[in-house]
Amino acid sequence: MNSSFELSNLDAVAWLRSLPSESVDLVITDPAYESLEKHRAIGTTTRLKHSKSSSNDWFAIFPNARFGELFDEVFRVLRRDTHFYLFCDAETMFVAKPEAERAGFKFWKPLVWDKRSIGMGYHYRARYEFVLFFEKGKRRLRDLGIADVISIARVHRGYPAEKPPAVSEILVGQSTEPGELVIDPFMGSGSVGVAALRQGRRFAGTDLNPEAVSIAASRLRELGTGTSPVESAPPTDLLTLVESVHER
Ligand SMILES: C[S@@+](CC[C@H](N)C(=O)[O-])C[C@H]1O[C@@H](n2cnc3c(N)ncnc32)[C@H](O)[C@@H]1O
Repeated sequence: MNSSFELSNLDAVAWLRSLPSESVDLVITDPAYESLEKHRAIGTTTRLKHSKSSSNDWFAIFPNARFGELFDEVFRVLRRDTHFYLFCDAETMFVAKPEAERAGFKFWKPLVWDKRSIGMGYHYRARYEFVLFFEKGKRRLRDLGIADVISIARVHRGYPAEKPPAVSEILVGQSTEPGELVIDPFMGSGSVGVAALRQGRRFAGTDLNPEAVSIAASRLRELGTGTSPVESAPPTDLLTLVESVHER
């Protein structure tokens, strides 16, 4: 198994620009898209705050106006005949889909991640997220029997908007071979990296937030070897919170 990782603390687009063209086998990412602002409680700030008792910590938002430059770079760094998965909500899907198509991707369909329990919302409480499925060139999925609804319980009280690695494990297994390189330019707590390393793929990721990089590094070190520019441990209350979620 080649479970290596390389983490960065740069802006997503700046980091992608530093990668060679056609050097990546799969992109799975979950940007801090604008409409997340609507989902969070009134009165919180855009900075990550710490609280032992709540999961209202938050992070910087990536404006929809930057999707064009983001998708141009994602398209450039992917090898020919590869896949790109984008976690988002319905509102962001309508903005992201045409931008990704303009960058050169073929859009296949939104997959649905069914979180199995209800979350926020006034008009029908939110129970799913989309994972937009794009293709560069032509690549066959490894298992044609997998459904377009992925039913996996949400992560409670983890990193803000943390995704269960089990969702990404399905995507990694479908769209890469062992040893290939998976990247996430908005990696947060490193869930995509966990999925990649668990399956013997290599991982590279970045996040603007040094605490995210630190959390991701400590999770990935349990699974493989790699480098991170942020070596200091995050504040213990947040790390303890995230670790206690993962131990359950
Ligand atoms: C929705 S979270 C990702 C959560 C992640 N999927 C997980 O499971 O933990 C989005 C992340 O994007 C980061 N972010 C916001 N703006 C960014 C930018 N310009 N470049 C890189 N990361 C950014 C935030 O710090 C946040 O950690």
